[in-house]
Amino acid sequence: MSLRSFSLVFLVAIAYLFVFVTCEQHFKLPAEIKTCKRDADDFSSCLRLACQESWPIFVKGIPELDMPPMDPFYDEYGEFEFGSNELHGKIITKDLYFYGFKNFKFLAVRPEYTGDRFKLEIDLTMPKGLAEANFIVNANLISFKLNGKGRFNVSAEDIKVTWFISGPVKNDRWMIEEYRPRPTVRKLKLWADDFFDGNPELSKIVLNFMNEFWPTLYRGMIPFVEETWSKKYSPVLNNFFSKFSFNEVFPTS
Ligand SMILES: *[C@@H]1O[C@H](CO)[C@@H](O)[C@H](O)[C@H]1NC(C)=O
Repeated sequence: MSLRSFSLVFLVAIAYLFVFVTCEQHFKLPAEIKTCKRDADDFSSCLRLACQESWPIFVKGIPELDMPPMDPFYDEYGEFEFGSNELHGKIITKDLYFYGFKNFKFLAVRPEYTGDRFKLEIDLTMPKGLAEANFIVNANLISFKLNGKGRFNVSAEDIKVTWFISGPVKNDRWMIEEYRPRPTVRKLKLWADDFFDGNPELSKIVLNFMNEFWPTLYRGMIPFVEETWSKKYSPVLNNFFSKFSFNEVFPTS
């Protein structure tokens, strides 16, 4: 064999080894994370408790598994396109921080395993949340033409969220196709500095209007927010779960 073809074979061998090792890389769940037998009667309540007890580990972040800290939760860039009756147009957020995830209380977990699909619905609450970020807005709110940028913050109380997580189980991996959070809040207060590129009086009027009629605005906006979050975070959850053996995370007895 010539040196040239030898090097080629060598390279191919290395490439195979790399692919093989990458694919076969086997992640173990962190030892502190409890698992639940999926054929046990108490699977659902066991999962609820396991979520509650493991959550602090996720809040801290798990760098080995590409999981960033969750409180504050950082989102570098978000782009929301709204098309509700009251609000049409685009809002961009930059450097958003969300505080409050560490206080998640898991209320219920509803697992469902049918055919080769696994689904979880998770109900949780948190007493309070606060988000702050930079924003750029270009939208029509009722009859106001919003066109500005600045800082905003929004605080909410009595937050309830249901997570819908589903996807097929293939080759012992849970491939998450959809993750969808559905939040409701009981109280909400919004602050932002400039909706009009330099008209603080008008900005104040709009802000008061928004704080008075937020439930209606929220109802119209949330489906678009959900859609954006779902597209953004489904791959993140998939990336996490597809690292593990399904039968190790959700074992049978
Ligand atoms: C939002 O920011 C404004 C201006 O900096 C501040 O007065 C207000 O307290 C903040 N709201 C919250 C809930 O932090």
